[in-house]
Amino acid sequence: MKRSVPDLMNSESPLVMVTAYDFPGGKVAEAAGVDLILVGDSLGNVVLGYDSTAPVTLNDMIHHARAVRRGAPDTFLVVDLPFGTYHTGVTDAMRSAVRVIQETGADAIKMEGATPEVVEVVRVLTRNGIPVMGHVGLMPQTATAQGGLRVQGKDDESARRTLDGALALAEAGAFSVVLEAIPARLARLITEKLPVPTIGIGAGVNCGGQVLVTHDLLGVYEGEEKKIAKRYAEVGRISREAITQYASEVRARAFPTRENSFVMKDDVLDKLY
Ligand code: KIV
Ligand code: NA
Repeated sequence: MKRSVPDLMNSESPLVMVTAYDFPGGKVAEAAGVDLILVGDSLGNVVLGYDSTAPVTLNDMIHHARAVRRGAPDTFLVVDLPFGTYHTGVTDAMRSAVRVIQETGADAIKMEGATPEVVEVVRVLTRNGIPVMGHVGLMPQTATAQGGLRVQGKDDESARRTLDGALALAEAGAFSVVLEAIPARLARLITEKLPVPTIGIGAGVNCGGQVLVTHDLLGVYEGEEKKIAKRYAEVGRISREAITQYASEVRARAFPTRENSFVMKDDVLDKLY
């Protein structure tokens, strides 16, 4: 059963969110029974091979979110608005969000930041019935300006900005706020002060829920382990081993076998000779 916004906001147990980018990703997340699926703009890094999320377009997000929705028709679906699609005024932001909702069947959109401009966008979108998830702390879309992909909220000024930002987003109507890469104690404080659930990634255990990039938790990329993401599987290694074995069996004519092949009657074959 798909969760509703009020139901998610009042959840007794920690909310479980994972990212998905395609049909099989949506299917497996729904089968696992997660509360929310995020079509993150981490799409750029883990699926499209860019070295940041900045090149990801609204059309990229829509293309992938449509596939995820086909795989996960009954799970609450959140889609990231990518860099540049909500920064040129509330009208443009509204237009981007409406496209995502109408063209993908998403239940909500997510955007990064808590500048006065973004807070205003959140206010207008939510007032117009579009559920918005906020995102503070480390914000990959603007990581260059933040001094690279690094932990936020460690000093007075940054901690204050992160807390105030999360509060402003909730006040403007965000139904939930992602806290990325901030100290666990700061995340706990924000979670206590916020009237809506926080969803942490690299933000300790005392958040209202957790999110991971599926490719990290599945170990899709070998050798690349991140502090914030526990690996629950070694899909990369298993995939490489499987394809390596397939290659050697093809080269040894050990695949396909009789079981993988079709048969025909001898007399039909004899007539061909
Ligand atoms: O794009 C993404 O995957 C995200 C999550 C890490 C929260 O924004
Ligand atoms: Na994102």
